[in-house]
Amino acid sequence: MKYYIITGTSSGIGESLVKELLAKEEQNHIISIARRENTALSEIAKTYNKNFSSYKLDLRETKSIEGTIQAIFNNDVDDNIESIYLINNAGVLSPIGPIERNPDNEIIDNIAINLISPMVLTSHFIKHTNYLEIDKRILNISSGSAKYLLPSQSAYSTSKAGLDSFTKSIVLEQKEKEYPVRIVSVYPGVISTKLQEEIRAANKEDFPLVHLFQEAYENGQLQTSEDTAKNLLELLLGDTFGQQTVVEELTSTRTS
Ligand SMILES: NC(=O)c1ccc[n+]([C@@H]2O[C@H](COP(=O)([O-])OP(=O)(O)OC[C@H]3O[C@@H](n4cnc5c(N)ncnc54)[C@H](OP(=O)(O)O)[C@@H]3O)[C@@H](O)[C@H]2O)c1
Repeated sequence: MKYYIITGTSSGIGESLVKELLAKEEQNHIISIARRENTALSEIAKTYNKNFSSYKLDLRETKSIEGTIQAIFNNDVDDNIESIYLINNAGVLSPIGPIERNPDNEIIDNIAINLISPMVLTSHFIKHTNYLEIDKRILNISSGSAKYLLPSQSAYSTSKAGLDSFTKSIVLEQKEKEYPVRIVSVYPGVISTKLQEEIRAANKEDFPLVHLFQEAYENGQLQTSEDTAKNLLELLLGDTFGQQTVVEELTSTRTS
């Protein structure tokens, strides 16, 4: 059995990742961690007769992550495990605006969701799978904002740059392991999701470059979450996964 643990599955890329995996002709078990329940995904899982477990968790509650991972390994993962994947996808953009106008709680939440929770999830994932001689992979959904900085997005850029550094650190640690976990950070592109709606809705005073995102949308330059999910899974499950630690260009080799 192939196990996939995915965070932030209530919308956007995370929801599309689950849909794609549910439609796959393989023996898999998809485990979703989300703040809001996505009943549509449970219905699709029933239709395909697929194993689907859903854990409700607000990732700002970073101290609750350990219990959730423990429950997943107690209740869902069993001895017929063939491979296991963790996709740290959940993320928030806010706060948007110059740092002196960012509310403290939004700065703290951003770093908790985008950076601390993937770190804690990775820690417990590795703890629980250390002894397993199977294929183990982690994909961190980062952003081009980690590298290409814009004003008014300092918390977001900082959290994603931190995620890239974290990924590089774990690569170094896992090199020495008997049964290593492979880990990659990826910039998925610019995708039409709730997060992009939020950028476009920012006011000019908070985000002077908002027009760039509005124009990209109006010119049809955004990718769909469905295509992005396909490309991300191609990367995650590909033979070359882990050869590049930070994948800045998410491309596809699919012909259709
Ligand atoms: N869209 C883009 O252009 C783009 C570009 C680069 C990187 N990314 C990255 O892609 C990832 C997915 O984003 P998206 O574009 O698909 O946006 P999205 O539709 O807003 O999805 C974000 C997901 O994260 C979840 N999430 C947010 N706060 C959470 C919390 N406190 N606890 C648990 N889950 C929480 C959301 O759930 P709720 O609905 O419950 O909040 C939602 O399922 C993010 O890491 C984002 O940074 C996106």
